Amino acid sequence: MKRTAVSVKIEDYPIWVQEFIKDSKVYDSSCSKEARVIFIEKDEGYYLKSAPKGSLEAEGRLTEYFHKKGLATEVIGYMSEDKDFLLTKKVHGEDCTYQKYLDDPKRLCDTTATLLRELHEVDFSDCGVDRVKSYIETVENSYRKRHFDNDLTDETRLLEREEAYRIAMENKHLLKNEVLLHGDYCLPNIMLDNWKFSAFIDLGNGGVGDRHIDLFWGAWTLKFNLGTDVYRDRFFDVYGRDKVDFDKLRIVAAMECFG
Ligand SMILES: Nc1ncnc2c1ncn2[C@@H]1O[C@H](COP(=O)(O)OP(=O)(O)OP(=O)(O)O)[C@@H](O)[C@H]1O
Ligand SMILES: [Mg+2]
Repeated sequence: MKRTAVSVKIEDYPIWVQEFIKDSKVYDSSCSKEARVIFIEKDEGYYLKSAPKGSLEAEGRLTEYFHKKGLATEVIGYMSEDKDFLLTKKVHGEDCTYQKYLDDPKRLCDTTATLLRELHEVDFSDCGVDRVKSYIETVENSYRKRHFDNDLTDETRLLEREEAYRIAMENKHLLKNEVLLHGDYCLPNIMLDNWKFSAFIDLGNGGVGDRHIDLFWGAWTLKFNLGTDVYRDRFFDVYGRDKVDFDKLRIVAAMECFG
C-alpha cells in the first residue's frame, strides 16, 4: 500500500483524535471510496479510518474481538459523531499487495490459503455476530433497491439480475454458521511481516458465517491482484478441498452480485 503525504484540516476531526494528529506527519492510505484511511506518524504509528455515521461500529467491535484472539490490531478508540472514526495501532509489516509478496505468487497463494484455513479453525463460540443473517438481508435489500453488479468473475458476468436472485433465494438456507469469517478476505486486508502473519484488518463484515464467502473473495483477490486465474486451483488445494463445496461457491458468487 502506497502512502501519500497529505495535509488534513485538524478541525475536521474530533478533539480526542486531534491529540494524535497535531504535530504529526499524516499520510493517506485509503483503498476505497467508502472510507478515508490516514496513517499518523506518531509513537509506533496509528491508522485512523473515517466513514459515514454508523458504518464503522461493527468494524470496531470485530477488530477488538479479533485482537483478543491475537488476529488483529488494538483499537485505540471508536467514536460516532457526524461521521464515524476508528483509531487503531499500526500493524507490523505490509499488506499483501506489497510488491515483494506479489513477486512470489505461489508463496502468496499458499500463505493466504493456509491463513484462511487457520482462521476458519478458530473457536467462534463467544463471537455473537451472525453474518449469515445480515448477509442474506443485504442481498434482499440490494435486490429491492436494484443494486446489482455482476462484474466479478467470468461466471457471474453471465448472470442476469433475476437469475442471480433466484439462485440466491432458492439456496440461501444452505449457508451455514460454521466458521469465524474475515468477511472481506482480500490481499489489502491481510498484513504480513516478512511472510509471517501479522494481522487481519478491515473486519467490518466479519462474524460467524459460511466459509465459502471468504473462499470466494480469497480466490477472487488472487485473480484481481495478480492478473491471472492460474492460482485458483492451488488456492483450494492448499485450503483443503475436503472443505470446499463448489456448488456453494456458485451460490455465494450469485449472492455477491448483490453485495
Ligand atoms: N492498523 C493498521 N496497520 C497497518 N496498516 C493499516 C492499518 N489499518 C489500515 N492499514 C492500511 O491501510 C489500508 C486501508 O485500510 P482499510 O483496509 O481498513 O480500509 P479500506 O480498504 O480503504 O476501506 P473499506 O473498509 O472501505 O474497504 C490497508 O490496506 C493497509 O495497507
Ligand atoms: Mg481494506
